[in-house]
Amino acid sequence: MALYIFLLSLLAFSFALVTAFEPSPLQDFCVADLTSSVRVNGQTCMDPKMVKADHFSFSGLHLAGNTSNPLGSKVTPVTVAQLPGLNTLGISVARLDYAPKGVIPPHTHPRATEVLTVIEGSLEVGFVTTNPDNRFISKVLRKGDVFVFPLGLVHFQRNVGSGNAVSISGLSSQNPGVNTIANVVFGSNPSISTDVLAKAFQVDKSIIKSLQAPF
Ligand SMILES: *[C@@H]1O[C@H](CO)[C@@H](O)[C@H](O)[C@H]1NC(C)=O
Repeated sequence: MALYIFLLSLLAFSFALVTAFEPSPLQDFCVADLTSSVRVNGQTCMDPKMVKADHFSFSGLHLAGNTSNPLGSKVTPVTVAQLPGLNTLGISVARLDYAPKGVIPPHTHPRATEVLTVIEGSLEVGFVTTNPDNRFISKVLRKGDVFVFPLGLVHFQRNVGSGNAVSISGLSSQNPGVNTIANVVFGSNPSISTDVLAKAFQVDKSIIKSLQAPF
């Protein structure tokens, strides 16, 4: 009986760990004090008496992002940095705009699963599973379609329609983080040695140098 209760409580404990990737809140809210110099995991809380509705609000996601850039895409994030009421709540949102042929290049979110809804246009989306399978899972989405990119996996989006495309993403972190693969690998500061990258990609060092050049 004691063993049974022990196993049951162990199960309950591990369930609590897997259901709460970010620590669960210990109060109704902890609106971020973005001016505080105190270093904690997340942001320190404002005095709850000073909290107003505006701290739980963000305006502007109806506005199209400027896609006049080499990628032809623009992300408008609404994370804890833009919406302090998100602090400790494990959630955020973003608007993504795509010009025709625009791409959000392969990237990962180290702290978030992403669920994307197409609001306008049509998108090719895809992600790749981890080693050793590296299976590519991809689909073309139309207006109203929803797709999920599992936590940490490399994924991308591409506008395959004739006009602009727009999508809204929910993310399971107040601060999902972004690792854009090209920037991380070829644009780090200082650079990773061309020797390492030439071996990693099994190409000549001159090719690595040309891949590093845009950064
Ligand atoms: C969009 O971005 C481009 C490139 O930075 C800039 O030249 C242009 O003025 C911007 N357009 C608007 C409407 O802000």
